[in-house]
Amino acid sequence: MSGRLDGQVALVTGAARGQGRAHCVRLAAEGADIIAVDLAGPLPAAVPYDSATPEDLSETKRLVEDLGRTIITAQTDVRDFDALKQVVDGAVARLGGLNTVIANAGICIPVVWDQTSPELFNDVISINVTGVWNTVMVSAQHVIDAGGGSIILISSYAGKKIQPFMIPYTTSKHAVTGMTRAFAAELGRHNVRVNSIHPGGVATPMGSGDMVAALERTGATNPKLNPMGTTFTEQPYAEPEEIAAVAAFLASDEAKFISSEHISVDGGSQYF
Ligand SMILES: NC(=O)c1ccc[n+]([C@@H]2O[C@H](COP(=O)([O-])OP(=O)(O)OC[C@H]3O[C@@H](n4cnc5c(N)ncnc54)[C@H](O)[C@@H]3O)[C@@H](O)[C@H]2O)c1
Repeated sequence: MSGRLDGQVALVTGAARGQGRAHCVRLAAEGADIIAVDLAGPLPAAVPYDSATPEDLSETKRLVEDLGRTIITAQTDVRDFDALKQVVDGAVARLGGLNTVIANAGICIPVVWDQTSPELFNDVISINVTGVWNTVMVSAQHVIDAGGGSIILISSYAGKKIQPFMIPYTTSKHAVTGMTRAFAAELGRHNVRVNSIHPGGVATPMGSGDMVAALERTGATNPKLNPMGTTFTEQPYAEPEEIAAVAAFLASDEAKFISSEHISVDGGSQYF
């Protein structure tokens, strides 16, 4: 089978499940070998949904191998720069290069502004901002060494507009938007394109456990804000594969003149 990414290698963080798994599977279907990183363990205590497990990461591995591609998995925390660098350097040496990076790992905690502890704020920023920065920092030189490629940062609808009752999350996702432009500016001379994707709602395990109830509890404190995030389309949310299709496009040569762009996949809700 010939795909748009034949012979290439892609790094995906948050790869155990949800959108990260969909990115791995889609990029593998397009011909890429995969480096799949995930904490695959307990998320910070304030996160209301279920944590991913090592079995989830193994399932991603199985799905990629079923497509005939090579995948190297690592149970690693994107907050740990040194550990992440070691994993990426080792995997790139084994697979022979790195062409695409998808910094996807992230957490989301609904919380009213005056209930937000410094610890909760730091948890969100350290994963969603520092973790994304770490991911780019340990991988960009490899992409430069490959002659250029595509770096994709997963922001959110909340990184363009806002998501009510999520000041830490909204702050973190706006930071990712700015980081996209700032890296794009400096890496452009090396033929490295940097773009962000901004999903609206996506059907993933982020919606499991107590998440829906937490959204309802916070929403009840100021119902006027609740319609925010409504889509223009009849479709209310995306499947992870719809986000992965956009990432695969950005990774491919079809997008070779697109850089520093912030692509929404949200049914228009950023303008609602
Ligand atoms: N689901 C949505 O509605 C939605 C909407 C917009 C943006 N997003 C963003 O999309 C990305 C993927 O989310 P998802 O919906 O697939 O959620 P998810 O919770 O299903 O998957 C996220 C993965 O990231 C991993 N992860 C979390 N912290 C980590 C860390 N410190 N180190 C390594 N891995 C870590 C988790 O273990 C999990 O497997 C996130 O950045 C999220 O903020 C999600």
